[in-house]
Amino acid sequence: MPALPPYAYTGPVDCTIAPNPGQLKGKSVIVTGGANGMGETTVRKFAEAGAFVTIADLNVERGEQVAKELGPNAQFVQCNIVNWDDQVRVFEAAVANSPSKSCDIVIANAGININAAPVKPKLSIVDVNLTGTLYTWKLAIHYFRRQPDTEDRDRCFIITGSMVAWIDSPANWQYTCTKYALRGLMRVARRSSWEQGIRINYVAPCYIKSAIRSPTYEAELVAKGVEFAPQEAVARCFMRIATDRTINGHSLMITPPSVAKEGFKDVDMDDYDNKEADEYEYFKRTQEMQLRIIEDRWVEGWSKARTAEGGLK
Ligand SMILES: NC(=O)c1ccc[n+]([C@@H]2O[C@H](COP(=O)([O-])OP(=O)(O)OC[C@H]3O[C@@H](n4cnc5c(N)ncnc54)[C@H](O)[C@@H]3O)[C@@H](O)[C@H]2O)c1
Repeated sequence: MPALPPYAYTGPVDCTIAPNPGQLKGKSVIVTGGANGMGETTVRKFAEAGAFVTIADLNVERGEQVAKELGPNAQFVQCNIVNWDDQVRVFEAAVANSPSKSCDIVIANAGININAAPVKPKLSIVDVNLTGTLYTWKLAIHYFRRQPDTEDRDRCFIITGSMVAWIDSPANWQYTCTKYALRGLMRVARRSSWEQGIRINYVAPCYIKSAIRSPTYEAELVAKGVEFAPQEAVARCFMRIATDRTINGHSLMITPPSVAKEGFKDVDMDDYDNKEADEYEYFKRTQEMQLRIIEDRWVEGWSKARTAEGGLK
């Protein structure tokens, strides 16, 4: 497998190119929050394409049911992503039980959005969406680096973010903070993860029908004219990223078919290079300086020289 090039802005991803499911055959994929909603739809599509999928979710009943239906192409591991040891078990199980004994694609999708009473906030949304996903990222790096960096393997991390990382969603402060933060993780990681053959991308759904909202609230939104996008569009977007190793450092948003007939498009707002206005000049200059003076320290003594396995030279 050729080493990934450094992140550089090369224009938006061509979302009209259909994902090639053949690329997923033999890949080992972890989906957190894979027992329900868009995660479940993704699990089904990836398994159908021949991947071995590890469903990591709190919901034992649904998780076991989905894994049972998918037979040898899936397993369920009970996991609260806030719990580090739970996530270690997920990654160990993905490597141990996948036919390829690997971990190629990680979709950090588990997330919540519930409104609690206005007392001292527990910040549970931050715990799950941010701390839990950072645990997933940390473990993904570790397990990606342990397997050979070869043509038939991948090192692909996908974050389920949200459109609220670009638009203002009144009152949704805790949730919005987490999704902005995850967008930040993608942006900082894309600058150096390629040194380890790892690519990272962000997927931003807007309105997708799922258990994240109560049926009453969902009906209210529809009555107010909200256009929901299908869960299949999210799964297809994950698949487009997971099957094309040239995609690194992008944010793709999920849209209703009236906006993009493929169901998703590149947000194309994560770079200054494509902006002409003079006020971006200082941003550009500062960005270039940061890249020149700061190196990511993957492990003690790390330098940019990368072995084929992504380890130290
Ligand atoms: N539905 C939307 O309109 C929408 C919009 C933008 C972003 N999102 C994001 O999409 C992702 C998936 O949400 P969904 O809409 O499919 O919701 P969902 O509630 O249908 O599914 C979420 C799944 O995550 C699991 N989960 C929740 N907390 C967990 C934890 N601590 N550990 C492990 N598993 C956990 C749940 O059991 C469930 O199976 C979330 O990150 C959410 O923020 C959803």
